[in-house]
Amino acid sequence: MRIGVLTGGSDCPGLNAALRAIVRKGVQEHGDTFTGFLDGWAGVLDDRTVPLDIPAVRGTLPRGGTILGSSRTDPLAGTGGAGRVKAALAAHELDALIVLGGVNTLTAAARLVDEEGLPCVGVPKTIDNDIQGTDYTIGFDTAVTVATETIDRLHTTAESHKRVLVVEVMGRCSGWIAIHAGLAGGANCVLIPERPFDLDRVCEYVESRFRASYAPIVVVSDSAVPAKGEVDLKGLSGVGEWLGREIERRTGHEARTTVLGHIQRGGTPTPNDRWLATRFGLHAVDAVHDGDWGAMVALHGTDIVRVPLREAVSGTRTVDAARYAENEIFFG
Ligand code: F6P
Repeated sequence: MRIGVLTGGSDCPGLNAALRAIVRKGVQEHGDTFTGFLDGWAGVLDDRTVPLDIPAVRGTLPRGGTILGSSRTDPLAGTGGAGRVKAALAAHELDALIVLGGVNTLTAAARLVDEEGLPCVGVPKTIDNDIQGTDYTIGFDTAVTVATETIDRLHTTAESHKRVLVVEVMGRCSGWIAIHAGLAGGANCVLIPERPFDLDRVCEYVESRFRASYAPIVVVSDSAVPAKGEVDLKGLSGVGEWLGREIERRTGHEARTTVLGHIQRGGTPTPNDRWLATRFGLHAVDAVHDGDWGAMVALHGTDIVRVPLREAVSGTRTVDAARYAENEIFFG
C-alpha cells in the first residue's frame, strides 16, 4: 500500500519512535511505501512532503520532537480544505493516511473520515494525556518524568532555605501531569484545572507542612484557577508566579516559582513512551491493512486496541474526583 503520515498539534517525545515503527512494519512486512507530510495538516494542504523509508527513520527512536515537523493547522477551518486534502492524497496515489495527533488534529481526521470518506487511522499523542478512549497517550510519561525529577530536586533546596517552592506544570484543560507528578514527587498539594482551588486552604497546607518541619512543594497546572477572586497575571508568567506571590503575602513564608514549560515536551522520550509509541505505530499499520478507517489505536491496560476516532475526540479526558482524592490524602 501507499501510505501518508503526518504529525500534528503540539509536539511530544515519542513521535519519532512511532514513525519508525510504522515505517519498519509497513516496509518489512507488507512492502508498503510511505510519504511524510511536513508540519501536520499544513503540509497536506500545501502538498509539502518527504519520502519516509527505513534510512529516513534510522536512529530516531530516542530522538524527541518529530522529524516531520508539526503545526496546529486545522485543514477544515477555511473553505475548500477537504478538497485540498483529497487532492494531496490523490497526487501521491495514497491508499491511507496515518494521523498522529491530539484532540484537534484527530478531530479533523475523524471529520474527514465521516464527512468525506477518507481513509484515515489515528494515533493519540500529547503530553496532556487528555484524549478519551485510551489509558495513556504518547509523550505523557516523559512529561511526568521531567516534572517528577524537578520536584525531587526542589525538595532539597526548599528544605535548605525553609521556602515554599511552587512548580507550574503543563496540561491545558486537564490535570493529569500534575496529579501523577505530584503523587510521585510527594507534593504538599496539587492544583488542577478541573477543580478550582481555595487559596486559604492552600495556605493552611503550607503552614501545616512547615509545622511538620518540611518545606512545602505546591504543584499547579498552568490553567488551574482559584475558586474565589480573579488571578491578576499582569507582569507575571502565569498562575504559578501569582500563586507563589500570594502564598508569600498571606503566610509570610518566602516562596519561589519554577515554571517547567516546554522542558516537559522536549528531549528524549522515556523507555515507557518509546514502548507505547512503538506499539501504537505497529498497530496503526495493522489497522490500515484491515481498512479500519476511522479507528484510533489505544492502550487499554497493557493491550493495544482500536476505538472509534469520533468517540475519542468527542470531549476532553479530565481528572475525576476519585483520582484527585487519592492525591488529597497527602496534602498538608
Ligand atoms: O497540548 C500540549 C501543551 O504543551 C499544553 O500542555 C500547553 O498548554 C500547550 O501545549 C502549550 O502550547 P504552545 O507550545 O503553543 O505554547
